[in-house]
Amino acid sequence: MQTRITELFGIEHPIVMPGMSWISVPELVAAVGDAGAIGWLATGPLSTDQTRESIRRIRMLTDRPFGAGVTLLMPGARENAGVLIEERVPVVNVSLGKCDWIAERVHAYGGKVIATVTTEKHARAAERQGADALQVTGNEAAAHGSQIGSLVLTPAIVRAVKLPVVAIGGFGDGYGLAAALALGAEGIGMGTRLSLTKESPVHDAAKLAQIQASIEDTLYSDRFDGLWCRVLSTKSAKTAIRKGMNLPKAAVASFGIAREMKLSWPKLFVGTMRQGTDTMIKLAHMATAFEKIRAATEDGDLEKGVHLSGQVQGLIHDIPTVAEVIERTMEEAKQAHARLGALMG
Ligand SMILES: Cc1cc2nc3c(=O)[nH]c(=O)nc-3n(C[C@H](O)[C@H](O)[C@H](O)COP(=O)(O)O)c2cc1C
Repeated sequence: MQTRITELFGIEHPIVMPGMSWISVPELVAAVGDAGAIGWLATGPLSTDQTRESIRRIRMLTDRPFGAGVTLLMPGARENAGVLIEERVPVVNVSLGKCDWIAERVHAYGGKVIATVTTEKHARAAERQGADALQVTGNEAAAHGSQIGSLVLTPAIVRAVKLPVVAIGGFGDGYGLAAALALGAEGIGMGTRLSLTKESPVHDAAKLAQIQASIEDTLYSDRFDGLWCRVLSTKSAKTAIRKGMNLPKAAVASFGIAREMKLSWPKLFVGTMRQGTDTMIKLAHMATAFEKIRAATEDGDLEKGVHLSGQVQGLIHDIPTVAEVIERTMEEAKQAHARLGALMG
């Protein structure tokens, strides 16, 4: 299938795997690329050295196109963006920040920039700032989706900008792909679906909990990590949301984050203070959430941990390989097309 997205990124199928911390690792990104789609390496929890090593590892594993994401609000993200540019990563996914300076440098070596947005206003801003495409994240999504569902948000942004749109949030099969294309998108992103594959490093206990959960078993709140965020509904998630941010815990967690990302803690603290009170509170929230997300993803600990998951979990009941997911999605999209063709005559 050819769309503006397959052409832009030089891929076979209009499917993207978004950045997921500790999940969108080189092996999974390469598996997605080998299946004819494209994935973003998640650099959020990585130091600059780890980011560079991960990019080189992807290049060892596959010669297919790939990308990497930077969440500009996070500590260390600007430095990681610098590494992506030095390493000439083919596609850079930018979220939660202005992408103009990144777009200028990425375009200089022939790379592409896709900005993640959740509102029409941010979509227009990303277009002005030089993005080549938009990843439009609807309310159904795991983690930080819009207040608006994909069914309305996707066509609204398609109409608001000229850039090709990748619809994301609630897509887990080819029927969703056909629907997104019908809404004017040029492709879909699948986070929850691709995190539930054999190659995904998510702990088996967390995978099992998700494939047994229904479409109703998620919680959407701004009290977990400070932004509106969707998580798997568990007792620990409910407790975390009820209690909200815990400053002493955030301070302790920030030591761990600084150590892991090889940042000096005083530098991290001063850097955070400089971003203003609002950002500081958001980052303190995120620091509290960081350890909980990691405990669920890596250790499968759903007693203390909190797992990010989208509503589409309720449509997913198996754990196939990445290649099987991509092939099946394309096949289902054809079936949806045939059905619509027959219905419409
Ligand atoms: C297990 C899991 C972990 C995720 N981790 C992150 C993350 O670290 N940062 C982020 O911005 N989004 C994260 N996301 C959200 C995805 O980037 C994406 O926006 C979302 O999965 C799309 O919606 P879907 O799950 O309905 O496909 C995560 C999603 C999942 C399922």
